[in-house]
Amino acid sequence: MPRRRRLKVRRDRALPRTRRPNRSSAGAEEEIAHRNIAAHYDLGNDFFERLLDPSMLYSCALFEREETSLEQAQESKLERLCRKLALRAEHRVVEVGGGWGSFAMHAARTAAASRRDGSFSAMSSTQPSTHPAGASSTDASPVDLRSDTVTLPTPAMRRAMAEAMVGDDVKGEDPTARRLEERVAELLGLEAAMFAPSGTQTNLCALLAHCQRGDEYIVGRSMHTFKYEGGGASALGGIVPCPLPERADGTLDLELVRRSVKPEHDSHFPKSRLLCLENTHGGRALPIGWIDEAIATARELGLAVHLDGARLWNAAVELAVEPARIARGFDSVSVCLSKGLGAPVGSVLAGGGETISRARRWRKVLGGGMRQSGVIAAAGLVALDEGFERLAEDHRRARDLAEGLSDLEGLELRWAATSMVFLRFEEARTDELRSTLDEAGVLADVERGALRLVVHRDVTDRGIERAVEAFRAFAMGARVAGGART
Ligand SMILES: Cc1ncc(COP(=O)(O)O)c(C=O)c1O
Repeated sequence: MPRRRRLKVRRDRALPRTRRPNRSSAGAEEEIAHRNIAAHYDLGNDFFERLLDPSMLYSCALFEREETSLEQAQESKLERLCRKLALRAEHRVVEVGGGWGSFAMHAARTAAASRRDGSFSAMSSTQPSTHPAGASSTDASPVDLRSDTVTLPTPAMRRAMAEAMVGDDVKGEDPTARRLEERVAELLGLEAAMFAPSGTQTNLCALLAHCQRGDEYIVGRSMHTFKYEGGGASALGGIVPCPLPERADGTLDLELVRRSVKPEHDSHFPKSRLLCLENTHGGRALPIGWIDEAIATARELGLAVHLDGARLWNAAVELAVEPARIARGFDSVSVCLSKGLGAPVGSVLAGGGETISRARRWRKVLGGGMRQSGVIAAAGLVALDEGFERLAEDHRRARDLAEGLSDLEGLELRWAATSMVFLRFEEARTDELRSTLDEAGVLADVERGALRLVVHRDVTDRGIERAVEAFRAFAMGARVAGGART
């Protein structure tokens, strides 16, 4: 049956920020549809935020169709629509919105100001799609330095997710999840691998695979597997942690490890079973020579060795070695795809075949057996295709950030490593720093007197400059206050 369409075109009408066309009744459902369509057409995840840029002049073209479903809207080729609506070269498409009853396209007439960073992308196939990295490139959007977990999936990831071949992964039938597992096992030079929803779960599955109730794992006291995973190993597995202080470079004192191992046949003690390391730790890549030594010590002591390699990719880039070199010798290694690599979800545990089949059983017990998990594994594969080598850019920007902050009054640069920068400041000024950063649109997890900044793929050079400017404003406050005190 031919589709009935009503075409209504309005042009060159400046729309104030609050009057966005055809959005008055936009509910959550429509919002989701908009996002999906923006992703489908490579418009970038920050599409709607960009639309709020008050410097834009909008031309508006509404294209309504009566029997529209999201799928039908997605079927429409936007280029064809553009032609129909006679969009000219001076127009750029800034929004495609799909609702259940309507399909709306908004084209921006390119006011010079709105083009300042060239990030408004037209749909034409001659122009590259905008990457969400642009999100931080306009002064209107926030610079999010809270964590590399905030990275948004790229258009290529979303496409791969939509098109993924899937099956029931609990039955071992999801070809995309299988492919991801094989790929990671190969990259890490280990026998087998298991895909899971999170790094917390891959770590816990590993601990449960290595230890029984009443067993002990030796771990750094500020490592994720001890400090930030809700005590899961103890709460769910009856596994006892033996936390040790880390040294400044993120390593452990191996003599202390040796002394921490409990006598095997003395029933007063838990049984020491596992040494757990983290790489990178606090952004620091552990020295390869020390890892080899730690593994050799663990073997001598009869301990298995697990690596929380959530950011192993950053370590590989920093040390200019293959990921397999960093994973060498470990019984199990967990890597995250959802941090610097930018996938929306997912971690992989790799290791020996038997370890991974025990871990797979625990994954099911923990509720991590996902069915058509290829939908998210597909994004992980794209993350690996896009290349962890790109992380070098984040490291360079983190160095720029550290350099920009290094001699600001009232701020102490503690250390900067790979993509992370650690700072200290006067505790009494915590609220002041929070509000200065807020005002400047810089997002950071500010604790009392300290903070960590993390650079990732959605932070641009301009974003780094804006962050430095914000901290400079805070430093100026220090100088004024300091001046007043003396
Ligand atoms: C070092 C480290 N390990 C493990 C995790 C856990 O990963 P997830 O957030 O996927 O559970 C994180 C999370 O930030 C982490 O930083």
